[in-house]
Amino acid sequence: MYISKYKSKIVSAEEAVKVVKSGDRVLLHANSCYPEILVNAMCDRYQELNDVEVAHLTIFQKPRFIDPEMQGHFRHNALFTSGVTRKAINEGRADFTPIFLSEIPIAIERGVIPIDVIFLNLSPPDKHGYCSFGVSNEISKTAAEHAKVVIAQINSKMPRVLGDNFIHIDKIDYMVECEQELVDVPMVDPNITPEEQRVYTRIGEIIASMIKDGDTLQMGIGAIPDAVLSFLTEKKDLGIHTEMFSDGLIDLIEMGVITCDKKTLLPGKIVASFVIATRKTHEYIDNNPFIEFRTTKFVNDPLNIARNDNMVSINSAIEVDITGQVCSHSIGNRIYSGFGGQVDFIRGASRSKGGRAILAFPSTAKNDTISKIVPTLTYGAGVTDTQADVHYIVTEYGVADLWGKTLRERVKQLIQIAHPKFRDELEKKAREFKYLW
Ligand code: COA
Repeated sequence: MYISKYKSKIVSAEEAVKVVKSGDRVLLHANSCYPEILVNAMCDRYQELNDVEVAHLTIFQKPRFIDPEMQGHFRHNALFTSGVTRKAINEGRADFTPIFLSEIPIAIERGVIPIDVIFLNLSPPDKHGYCSFGVSNEISKTAAEHAKVVIAQINSKMPRVLGDNFIHIDKIDYMVECEQELVDVPMVDPNITPEEQRVYTRIGEIIASMIKDGDTLQMGIGAIPDAVLSFLTEKKDLGIHTEMFSDGLIDLIEMGVITCDKKTLLPGKIVASFVIATRKTHEYIDNNPFIEFRTTKFVNDPLNIARNDNMVSINSAIEVDITGQVCSHSIGNRIYSGFGGQVDFIRGASRSKGGRAILAFPSTAKNDTISKIVPTLTYGAGVTDTQADVHYIVTEYGVADLWGKTLRERVKQLIQIAHPKFRDELEKKAREFKYLW
């Protein structure tokens, strides 16, 4: 029955994007679900359109709407920034919205971020007419439920990922059939230097010593959280509740280290909202009942995260000051990424019975020329996690346990895990600020 309905909604990309009007906000499906065909068709119309806001989470393909000739026609609003959009934001040609990933769906539901048109990239419908949001659910499912117009690429290459990860064709206004390979995005740079590898190994060993059999893990974005996974091969019965994961998880699943059997929320399931990964992971999660994708309204809600006993969150940071105030999304006033789920998971893991919230990063950046532990955050840096949010900080020199500690205790611990060549200077500043005396 649905087949005739399905066929009646199939149009060309050019036809579908005609609904976009000047002044609209268009939201894009994110990560490897970036709907490139629809975006390009919309950009072909740029001379007819003015002030169209294109909002999105992480995207990895360079979008045409940031090209200089598109100025005035399109302006993009990054809810999370990546390499392809960072420059435009930092040149003032695009916007950035600081917001928790748990709360974007709520802002959409409440009309704070209204969506006129959403562009999706979905799996073909099953025999009941349901299309999967594929490898990226994040905020798209909520946005599709609230957008005035829903347009979808129906992509024969999109994995059918299970969970609360479906939309019925009745809820889609226009569909554009395509066969579009997913972009591969490895989380760990394959060209890391031996020195970087040494630091990752040390951090991985330290974090492995903080993880117990039966823990439930979240891995944030960046090289460290994914690299840590390779040090967990001796663990048993680990569970996963995470907004995202990458390729590092698949080996652990196949080795039987991750069973999710001891989870106290949705046992037996890996709960996630999207992957940033390569074909290996895309193929693994296709039609796999072990994988449960849900929106970030559910996955990132700190109260839901805390329903997992022994929840361990592992995230990374750009810099931390000696009092434990953390910047993870900007380098000075230059926006680097976004809030994502870092605060959501720190708060959720901190409230979980037996939980541990970990921030881990190398002690230095730029070939040991910059200490990531600093007297004060760089001028213009945004605070991602407040002093009171932060529990454990890990570098290759050890662990600082800041929760419930005075400023003096925090300063001492953080200086101990800074790179040795910066410790004297940090101590001098700490004395100047009267944190130490
Ligand atoms: N000062 C100046 N530059 C710094 C720096 C510092 N203190 N720390 C890092 N950098 C530079 C690096 O040299 C690198 O530069 P390059 O791109 O020119 O090589 C860049 O910033 C990124 O650093 P890197 O350590 O490679 O980042 P990563 O890929 O491991 O990611 C975060 C680390 C913090 C950026 C990432 O975890 C993030 O965006 N976090 C916020 C959101 C979040 O955690 N969400 C949870 C899950 S979505």
